[in-house]
Amino acid sequence: MKQKALQIQIREYERLEELSEPQVDLVNKAIKSAGNAYAPYSGYHVGAAVLLANGKTITGNNQENAAYPSGLCAERVALFYAGSQYPDVPVTSIAIAAIQDGTVQEEPVSPCGGCRQVLCEKEFLGGTPIEIILYGTSRIQVIQQARDLLPLPFIFRKED
Ligand code: THU
Repeated sequence: MKQKALQIQIREYERLEELSEPQVDLVNKAIKSAGNAYAPYSGYHVGAAVLLANGKTITGNNQENAAYPSGLCAERVALFYAGSQYPDVPVTSIAIAAIQDGTVQEEPVSPCGGCRQVLCEKEFLGGTPIEIILYGTSRIQVIQQARDLLPLPFIFRKED
């Protein structure tokens, strides 16, 4: 028997100004996009902004539905739209933020399991790490690659 421990690195910042200009821009786009979410059932408005290797930014927000499971998270709305418009362009970064009762959330928003799986596959396909910026007004967490957020992912094609 072998026992293995997995570790991930998280960079934590107190203020947005500590981030680089492109990171700040992406966070602001995620916050803006959260404002356009369709979330009448949960009241939790999430925004995601995805930066592509060609410099384009794609935003998305959660889209809910009266038939609850038919809704989709902000991250996947943005990632799937990016894939549909620029199928061969890698994603290099994603910022996520949420608004509840008109207030941007204090705690960083961390993607759900399904979105982590999608992020991982996108990262694997793109062949370049996807930086993940989780925004909260009290702290901002930056993770260097999607793979770090999902230990033991399901991989259909073999990793080399
Ligand atoms: N949601 C997201 O859009 N992204 C996440 O990372 C977590 C959850 C959405 C799904 C649902 O519309 C609402 O937030 C409450 O769960």
